[in-house]
Amino acid sequence: MILTMKDFDFENKKVLVRVDFNVPLDDGDITEDERIIAAIPTITFLLEKNAKVILMSHLGRPKGQIVEKLKMNKVAKKLSDLLDKEVIKLDDCIGQEVKEKINEMKSKEIILLENLRFHAEEENNDEEFAKELASLADVYVNNAFANCHRDHASMTTITKFLPSCTGFLVEEEMMILTKIMQNPEKPFVAIIGGAKPDKIDVIKNLLKIADKIIIGGVLANTFIKAMDANIGKSKFDPESVGDAKSLLLQSGGKIILPVDAFVADSIEKGENSRIAKIEKITDECMIGDIGPDSIALYKKTLKDARTIVWSGPLGAFEFEKFEGGTHEIALFLSGLNAKVFVGGGESGAALKKLGLEDSVSYISTGGGAFLQFLSGKELPAIKALQKESY
Ligand code: 3PG
Repeated sequence: MILTMKDFDFENKKVLVRVDFNVPLDDGDITEDERIIAAIPTITFLLEKNAKVILMSHLGRPKGQIVEKLKMNKVAKKLSDLLDKEVIKLDDCIGQEVKEKINEMKSKEIILLENLRFHAEEENNDEEFAKELASLADVYVNNAFANCHRDHASMTTITKFLPSCTGFLVEEEMMILTKIMQNPEKPFVAIIGGAKPDKIDVIKNLLKIADKIIIGGVLANTFIKAMDANIGKSKFDPESVGDAKSLLLQSGGKIILPVDAFVADSIEKGENSRIAKIEKITDECMIGDIGPDSIALYKKTLKDARTIVWSGPLGAFEFEKFEGGTHEIALFLSGLNAKVFVGGGESGAALKKLGLEDSVSYISTGGGAFLQFLSGKELPAIKALQKESY
């Protein structure tokens, strides 16, 4: 049984809400505020119920050190602007002073604690640290879907010490993803790209559910390598080549790989860029993007789909020269009569860059969490919310 916010009376209660305000920063400035916006319905609901709202999040990877530019001050300011309401930012997330400030709170006030990862105990999933956090409040709400794949103190162990429930964002993301994976409208096509090496499990699981799986990015290089083709100097994941080989054998033609590529002598410099058929790739080449024939093949595969899941760009999207394939597919998706679900991070960024974010059915706030869900593995923070009884 997992409780939701509807199961609690929050009147005058101190409610500790785990949010994921791990937003992209450029020189300390917030460049995308979607994750902050996504937390607002939960915060507003709690304020309407006269709760004292205590928010906590991580930001970046400070590894147990205080890092000036990873302090939560700008996040507090952004949230305050979005809510048009004061957000009191504290200088730590545990300790006597934090306790005192929280004990002085009135209902309908908001406090944002300092970056949880300034304490190594957060990522070490330290039980005492979780207990200290829990001692700040009466109820715990997990609204940090994008961090639900992390077995960290404020995500899992804390639920041992406080009555716990999901926030609206976690509820919504879980409902949408569960529906896709259990009962997708067919044909169901997945597009999996990007550079993260841990996507083999995603493909393995999707092979059971999807009708076709389109592969791009560094992952495609690993699969091409698995077919004993030359990928030149392109990046790939050597540890996954064996698995990729067996997946290709089992896939019954479901896996769709690039047939040509946009290559260069160096991705960073984009030197000597040209289109090459996959079988013509030579030793000095690096694959930067999918080529025009691959784009046509991918469009043909996608055109009749009723459900599409997309995670990860199809090429080295961060370089202008190699962003074309991802853009063309994003544009094509926006015109389809299908439900399109996009994983957070770079695929969402590609849509935003084109101004197409409203043309898809759903953009998840989760990158890693979204992928872990697609791989069929349990999210530890969701498991932690499951209790026999209360
Ligand atoms: C994310 O952005 O995917 C989550 O906030 C988790 O962050 P992490 O990868 O630094 O643990």
